[in-house]
Formats: sequence, structure tokens, C-alpha cells
Amino acid sequence: MNQSVRTRVQQLRELSRPDRVFDFMLPAQSPVDVRHGPILYLEDVSVSFDGFRAIDRLNLTIDDGELRCIIGPNGAGKTTMMDIITGKTRPDSGQVWFGSRHNLLTLDEPRIANLGIGRKFQKPTVFEALDVSENLELAMAGDRRVWKTLLARLDGAGQARIDEVLETIGLTGERHRLAGVLSHGQKQWLEIGMLLSSARACCWWTNR
Ligand SMILES: Nc1ncnc2c1ncn2[C@@H]1O[C@H](COP(=O)(O)OP(=O)(O)OP(=O)(O)O)[C@@H](O)[C@H]1O
Ligand SMILES: [Mg+2]
Repeated sequence: MNQSVRTRVQQLRELSRPDRVFDFMLPAQSPVDVRHGPILYLEDVSVSFDGFRAIDRLNLTIDDGELRCIIGPNGAGKTTMMDIITGKTRPDSGQVWFGSRHNLLTLDEPRIANLGIGRKFQKPTVFEALDVSENLELAMAGDRRVWKTLLARLDGAGQARIDEVLETIGLTGERHRLAGVLSHGQKQWLEIGMLLSSARACCWWTNR
């Protein structure tokens, strides 16, 4: 067998290996490097809409594990800032980094979401016909494995994680209630729990 045929055969063997997962099927998540700095870093970020400067040289750093609340009057630029971090809006200037490795200004919205920057909006979006734990289980598995998740039982580690999230969001006593019958506030907490369950590195929510 000459060299090129041998290489081709090896490539075919590699492709047909039963234990191999194709690269395009691997989760896009990659580790966020926070060893040398914050998990989120915005420097000198500005954006204008039709000449109106909605954000003017914003600097913001958030450390890993930190909870930060951003408040400000109507039109202050809070939603615009979220839009910039999640890739919906591109700033005119400045830098936006997720850990020290990911330059968010080079990535589109799906890539940024896959890195683990989750976002929720004012109106809660939970699966009303499922109970509270099932909502968290689905979020934990990610949408690639919805059916498998509904059919399979959680392992011990998964169950422990659900218990932990239920405790954090104050819904331990409601775990078997349908999400549809929860109060508006409880649905909000459930959706925050879903973001936490999906192993998001960073979560945001906003009034819009
Ligand atoms: N796509 C857009 N086109 C034009 N102007 C915009 C756009 N998005 C935001 N703005 C303007 O930018 C400014 C900041 O708006 P933004 O929605 O970010 O404020 P906010 O702090 O979220 O306010 P609120 O508390 O009302 O939610 C406002 O003056 C708004 O009108
Ligand atoms: Mg807003």
C-alpha cells in the first residue's frame, strides 16, 4: 500500500470509529479563563444610534462568582449594554472580553450563547406543562438531548445539582408542581434556575 492510500484508509478508519464523536457534534463550550482577571471585561465601550450616544466610554469588570446589579434611569443604556455583551449590538469602539480568551466582539450571538452567556427577559419563559424539576432537568441537558432527558432518569450528580439549584431559587417545596401554576415571581426564579442549571458561566436578566 503506498503512503497516500494508507493515509486515506487511516482517515476512513478514524471516521468509522464507534467511540468517536465528530468535531461538529462536540459542544461549542470552551473553558473560560479567569486565572488572570475578571470573567467579564468591558473597556471604553461606546455606541451611538443615529448620532445619539447611548453608551459613552463604559468600563465594567465583573469577577467570577460575583453578582452585580446594574441600575439606572430609563434610557441609561442598560439594555444596550446587555445587547453588546450578548452580541445583538456591536459597539462603535471599545473592548468586550469573556475571561481572558474570548473576544466577544468577534463572535456572533449563537457562539456567545454557546460559550455560556445566558440571558432572560422580563416575561418568564418556562415549560408550563412540565413540573419544576423537569424544567430544570431540560435546561441542564441542553436542547440537543430533550427527548433523551424526558425518557431517562437523572444520575446522582444531576439530581444533586437540581436539588442545589432548587434550594438557591427557593423552590424546593414546589419541585413537583406544574410550572404553569406558579406565581409570576416563582416563574421568574424558575427561569433563573434554568439558566443556572444549564451550567451557564454568566447569567443576565433585564426588564426588557
Ligand atoms: N436600536 C436603537 N435605535 C435607536 N436608539 C436606541 C436603540 N436602542 C436603544 N436606543 C436608545 O439608546 C438609549 C439607551 O436605551 P436602553 O434601552 O439601553 O436604556 P435602558 O437603560 O435599558 O432603559 P430602560 O430602563 O427604559 O429599560 C435610549 O435613549 C434609547 O432610546
Ligand atoms: Mg432596558
